[in-house]
Amino acid sequence: EKTAIGIAHSKVILIGEHAVVHGQPAIAIPFPLIGVETEIEYVPGTVKMDSTFYHGPLQHAPKELEGIVECVSKSCEYLGIPYKDLLIRINSSVPPGKGLGSSASVAISVIRSLFHYCERECSPEDLLKLANVAETYAHGAPSGLDTLTITSDKPVWYKKDNPVEHIELGEDLHFIVADSGRFGDTRTSVESVANLLKTAPHRIHSKIERIGELTHHAKEALEKASKQFLGQLLNEAQKELETLGVSDAGLNKLIRFAREEGALGAKLTGGGNGGCIIALAQNEVHSKQLAEKLRRFGAAAVWPFVLKK
Ligand code: MEV
Repeated sequence: EKTAIGIAHSKVILIGEHAVVHGQPAIAIPFPLIGVETEIEYVPGTVKMDSTFYHGPLQHAPKELEGIVECVSKSCEYLGIPYKDLLIRINSSVPPGKGLGSSASVAISVIRSLFHYCERECSPEDLLKLANVAETYAHGAPSGLDTLTITSDKPVWYKKDNPVEHIELGEDLHFIVADSGRFGDTRTSVESVANLLKTAPHRIHSKIERIGELTHHAKEALEKASKQFLGQLLNEAQKELETLGVSDAGLNKLIRFAREEGALGAKLTGGGNGGCIIALAQNEVHSKQLAEKLRRFGAAAVWPFVLKK
């Protein structure tokens, strides 16, 4: 029977999360080590999903999947196919609730698979528009950064309502993403920053602007191959994220440990309050050693990866 496949990688934010929601730039990196593969199969009846997080008809899917359900129905409408006779098999290696863009990766792989199923080309504009439908449910007011990074194969520089730019690196960089083990909810995290902004607008606004400034410097550091400086900027950004209330004890512990073990810089990545850290290693050998140490220290998962020039 007719089947079609769509894939998507995940993403990590290097710097600028949260500030990007409030108009500052952010830099994010496609993260190819984990991703999602979706297969669409023609199966008569209502639209069904088969995944580790839900198995059954979409009409009975739990509320957390509202975004993806809406995304499937909007995609069918867009493609002009009836919303029936589809089995959507989702295979994801992106852990949800860890700031790695799992919701956007799932949405993008599902949309791509539906376009393939209809033998239609998916323009980047269509892809982003449809994926942002799902993201709006998942995050409330997403900046659009996750979907942009997941559809890119280069680091992205993004500021809301501006065209995305790609960053050209001056050198290879060795990063490690490590999971604190706790789940974070990006939506709650984003809302908590918005609330802080209401209660102390002046103070919080200056923190957000400061993150924007650090992000501008980080772009230069990436382009000019100054990784020592980049590391310092990541550490500075972490300080600001802590004052925004989005870091927690588990993240702080991993970050401190990574720095003690020689990371040039370390910070949370993504929504925070649970989820992952990103650490910049000195070089390839150090990256492997640090990854092993983080594992032994108790990180729930560790992904060393190189960002090629
Ligand atoms: C989530 O990966 C990044 C945040 O900045 C939210 C967003 O950009 O929509 C926290």
